[in-house]
Amino acid sequence: MAKKLAVIGAGLMGSGIAQVSAQAGYEVILRDVTDEALTRGRDGIRASYAKFTAKGKLTEQEAEAALARITTTTDLDAVADADLVVEAAFEHIEVKQEIFRALDRVVGEDTVLASNTSAIPITKIAAATEHPERVVGTHFFSPVPLMGLCELVRGYKTSDQTLARAREFAEGVGKTCIVVNRDVAGFVTTRLISALVVEAVKLYESGVASAEDIDVACRLGFGHAMGPLATADLTGVDILLHATGNIYTESQDEKFAPPEIMRRMVDAGDLGRKSGQGFYQY
Ligand SMILES: NC(=O)c1ccc[n+]([C@@H]2O[C@H](COP(=O)([O-])OP(=O)(O)OC[C@H]3O[C@@H](n4cnc5c(N)ncnc54)[C@H](O)[C@@H]3O)[C@@H](O)[C@H]2O)c1
Repeated sequence: MAKKLAVIGAGLMGSGIAQVSAQAGYEVILRDVTDEALTRGRDGIRASYAKFTAKGKLTEQEAEAALARITTTTDLDAVADADLVVEAAFEHIEVKQEIFRALDRVVGEDTVLASNTSAIPITKIAAATEHPERVVGTHFFSPVPLMGLCELVRGYKTSDQTLARAREFAEGVGKTCIVVNRDVAGFVTTRLISALVVEAVKLYESGVASAEDIDVACRLGFGHAMGPLATADLTGVDILLHATGNIYTESQDEKFAPPEIMRRMVDAGDLGRKSGQGFYQY
């Protein structure tokens, strides 16, 4: 029998995770709080499958079959028989803790509870449950159908079995996993990108080099696909300020202290691509 996956949150990441999982043969139940969010998520998945079909990477029959394996619901009780749940709701500790508290009551004892958080300590999310040993981080990257990495994060009490099942799932949907053995704020990937962005912003802020030159240095000097300031604009200056601020608060490590100019940019509404102005103009 096909394995059952529940995904909580039908936004950018949740719908991507549902998409790759259904394609890999999982029966997926996608849960959000409104029908509008679910419709948007499902439409996004259909459009993405269509792109893969147009490129000859998926047949129309395969796309249809995958789409048919995804059901949507606003009812949390409907996820009760899932083997694994991946939460991809808003990046707020209270929201995630409430979801995990409710999930812990609704699902069976053997269900693994995973969070797609990019920076919140898994241990804090797990603490909202009675069974923190079954809680784990499965940090996918955007766009999920194209990006090959899943960062698996061990909370303070995550069991080996939970980690192994999360790995089996992530590899089963075609991802390569790295394991974060200790639940440090920002894990490995968000710490690395935050450290690079903070240093790039400091160099820019102090006039050492222009935004263009800092990005060219990383692209041509290090072979990065995109420079750190262009990455900040793409991700959202507000999102990165929040992420680095969290890591700084948790770690008290000065290298993650967000430079002042990031705060002023956010105050002024220069958030990057989404607002038309960030380190670059769009
Ligand atoms: N966007 C990225 O590039 C990215 C990358 C890696 C990880 N993440 C993480 O993934 C998570 C989701 O990010 P996103 O970009 O998909 O956000 P998003 O805003 O696109 O989607 C979040 C969805 O969660 C829904 N939601 C909120 N509360 C809910 C609840 N109680 N039950 C069910 N659904 C609920 C919202 O209605 C929304 O549809 C966040 O924790 C984020 O930090 C994001």
